[in-house]
Amino acid sequence: MKREQWNSRVGFILAAVGSAIGLGNIWRFPYMAYENGGGAFFVPYLFAMVTAGIPFMIMEFSLGHKLKKTAPRIFNQLGANLGLRLEWLGWFQVFIAAIIAVYYVAIIGWTLSFLGFSFSQSWGDDPNAFFFEQYLQLGNNSPTNLGQFQWGIAAAMSLAWAITTMAVFTGVKGGIERASKIMMPMLFIMVLVLITRVLLLPGALSGLNYLFEPDFSRLLDIQVWSAAYGQIFFTLSVGFAIMLAYSSYLPTKADINNNAFMTVLINCGFSILAGILIFGVLGYMAEQQMKPLTEVVSSGIGLAFVTIPTAINLMPLPQLLGPLFFVALVIAGLSSHISIIEAVISAIIDKFHLPRKTAAIIVCAVGYLVSMAFATSGGLLLLDLVDYFINNIALLLSCLVELLIITWMLKVNLVRRHANHCSEFHVGRWLEICLQIVSPAILATILAKNLYNTLLHGYGDYPIADQLLLGWGLVAAMLLFALLIDFASKRSPHRELWQSQPISSTKGEKKHE
Ligand code: ALA
Repeated sequence: MKREQWNSRVGFILAAVGSAIGLGNIWRFPYMAYENGGGAFFVPYLFAMVTAGIPFMIMEFSLGHKLKKTAPRIFNQLGANLGLRLEWLGWFQVFIAAIIAVYYVAIIGWTLSFLGFSFSQSWGDDPNAFFFEQYLQLGNNSPTNLGQFQWGIAAAMSLAWAITTMAVFTGVKGGIERASKIMMPMLFIMVLVLITRVLLLPGALSGLNYLFEPDFSRLLDIQVWSAAYGQIFFTLSVGFAIMLAYSSYLPTKADINNNAFMTVLINCGFSILAGILIFGVLGYMAEQQMKPLTEVVSSGIGLAFVTIPTAINLMPLPQLLGPLFFVALVIAGLSSHISIIEAVISAIIDKFHLPRKTAAIIVCAVGYLVSMAFATSGGLLLLDLVDYFINNIALLLSCLVELLIITWMLKVNLVRRHANHCSEFHVGRWLEICLQIVSPAILATILAKNLYNTLLHGYGDYPIADQLLLGWGLVAAMLLFALLIDFASKRSPHRELWQSQPISSTKGEKKHE
């Protein structure tokens, strides 16, 4: 089967940026920055971007581009080089993507519902009660006692699934690339329009002070560094099979370094824009309510579905600014969801040689059914618990093992050699130092801390049985299944993976301009 390919360089970058920019940028980043030292958070964040984000992106783009395979087959081939079985790591990453996909779509579903509500601000005067009591009907449920099925949420999630399915069903060029080319410019325009309007509101600039005012004492807190690194991996979609899949569709003549820098810088620049937008809104809201900003802000999910609706109530032209904000959030979420699902589909196509349409229907149908667990009153709690274990344990573990394999077991300079060979500008030895020493050391410290804290104190107030089943049990099951698939697979015969291949030898391939 001939491998699909991106049509143009811009198309690839927009798809990679579309994957990176997601819900994580718009509601997670601003709150993270605020909670972890305000302006001082930018120090660990930018440090993580340079030492982990850019190097990881160059490494994943190089692997996908060079080997033209998705995560399981890439690690199978790397393992063959070392005489080891490593395909399991690829499947572990695909499982991380699959789990994120089924809960991520629930947040997109809520966002779609709130887009509908925003035209008439039907969340009323108390968005907190509206979101938790009226909309989710949270009640006394738990992650294992999910309560009532919520048909409204299910309908919104079905719409999100329909859009994702259409994009991945049609393929890389016609579906994902085309969707990204429409969605990304729209998202940027909307966010710029929103920022322009919000910054002119009274109090907006004092909101920005909260975001940018540095509290340097926080730099000594390991929690702040952990938050910065966790945010970088999630926001850049690295370590869970996505960027490997996307770069496997690059033509042979593609500029790796340039594409990696552009993707990371656009994504992180967008996060800062989103921070300016959200804190501008909060500053305005604090002024209207004559309260300090610390009293009007709420964390995580609450920021998008409680704080922002409250702010929209106070805004001039709420019928316009409200829908604009939620459309931006829907677009950011959908373009990421498409990439997360594509990571799973492309791995299945590679492994079982299924036609794309068959693989897309199977993955989306199974994903749809499983995701309905989140269309329940307790769906938020289930999401919170699963998300914690996936992001703080499974994803960090996957990134650390990937780094150790590539940089310690294989020759680290091969990544730089391949990336530089394909790129207009070259990266120096710093790439190797970051990949081999700085990032693994920091990742290992953070992972050890997370494991220690979670084993000792658990997560949140969830019953221990729920944490064992849906947290530890889930991560263990993912590892076990990944190992089982690996042991049932044949080892790749390709050993000479990095043997230099003249780039010009691939006839009929178009260069990305
Ligand atoms: N990278 C995606 C996000 O930030 C998953 O939401």
